[in-house]
Amino acid sequence: MKVNRNFQNIADSYLFSTIARKVAEYGESHPGAPIIRLGIGDVTLPLAPAVIEAMQQALCEMSVQKSFKGYGPEQGYLFLKEAIHNYYGVRGIALKADEIFISDGAKSDLGNILDLFSVDNTVLVPDPVYPAYVDTNTMAGRKILFMDANEGNGFLPLPDASVKADVIYLCSPNNPTGAAYSRDGLKAWVDYALANDAVILFDAAYECFIEDPALPRSIFEIEGAERCAIEFCSFSKMAGFTGTRCGWTIVPLALEREGASLNKMWLRRQTTKFNGVPYIVQKGAAAVFSPEGMQQTQQNLSYYKENAKVLSDALDELGIWYTGGKNSPYLWLKCPDGMESWAFFDHLLENANLVGTPGAGFGKNGANFFRLTAFGDKAATREAVVRLKKLLG
Ligand code: MLT
Repeated sequence: MKVNRNFQNIADSYLFSTIARKVAEYGESHPGAPIIRLGIGDVTLPLAPAVIEAMQQALCEMSVQKSFKGYGPEQGYLFLKEAIHNYYGVRGIALKADEIFISDGAKSDLGNILDLFSVDNTVLVPDPVYPAYVDTNTMAGRKILFMDANEGNGFLPLPDASVKADVIYLCSPNNPTGAAYSRDGLKAWVDYALANDAVILFDAAYECFIEDPALPRSIFEIEGAERCAIEFCSFSKMAGFTGTRCGWTIVPLALEREGASLNKMWLRRQTTKFNGVPYIVQKGAAAVFSPEGMQQTQQNLSYYKENAKVLSDALDELGIWYTGGKNSPYLWLKCPDGMESWAFFDHLLENANLVGTPGAGFGKNGANFFRLTAFGDKAATREAVVRLKKLLG
């Protein structure tokens, strides 16, 4: 019997588990410390009333034999796929129902999609990057190339024609840097993928934070993307579903490689390995797109956007360089005095009881950067700013 030795090539513990452990240890040795958590991008506002009502109704349906549901379609119920179809439709993107797959969140499918690709493929990821992209490929033993995202390119790297990649990860607005690609930037990537027969895995989990109408919210706003891209999105950040779990993946019918339809392969993979998202959850997710659901969801998003503004105003006042904070719930700041990011993490935790995410956890280019999230409680975020100013001002 042999285990998968590729696990030896990843860190012992996932970034956010390491942070949670460090914070718990600090809490144990400093009981009562008023810790404010702006580390993991986890939402703090409850589900919208329209979502709760829809889930309660769905639960009642489950209690009556006539309306009870057993296994659902692995790729999701039509009512939710139609709602997502319309969500894209208002932005001029015409999806077919068969291109939409309901998932239990973007993170799972970003890992699961790798079943479709040979382990011989070369994967291209930006550095810094959301660690799940790197870890899932490393577990499978795939070769990973890193492209530099840094102050020089505004943390938005563009393709290098001399680099040959097969699978490319893009996330915009980006986790962790908060930077968002322009249409031209995404077009450059689509052109590269088409020219190189590559496939872009586009993580759009934070698209709902884009306010600037000039910025694309989906890769399918770019012509030709349906022949080279798969998009992953989620209700997590949009509607507070981090604990409820629901998302979607778009695999275009036009996407083919080596004569194989990736859409058909994904359907085959899902029907074999996945039994779908619970009916009750899908009903709640569909309610996000109802007029009341949209209005309530926007209110919650505005709350987080205000937090982002409070944090970015403070960084402006302190004269700290950062990306994000606009069109994104993340702020990616340069650690003061050239500090290393884990040292800055300890400094903030010990002297201000503030938790953020060290940039080093996202790659070598994050070594002197630090991520703060706008998903915190409003009062706590304001208090965090007071402490930041006191410590760094
Ligand atoms: C993060 O903090 O980067 C996010 O919570 C990651 C995720 O959504 O899994």
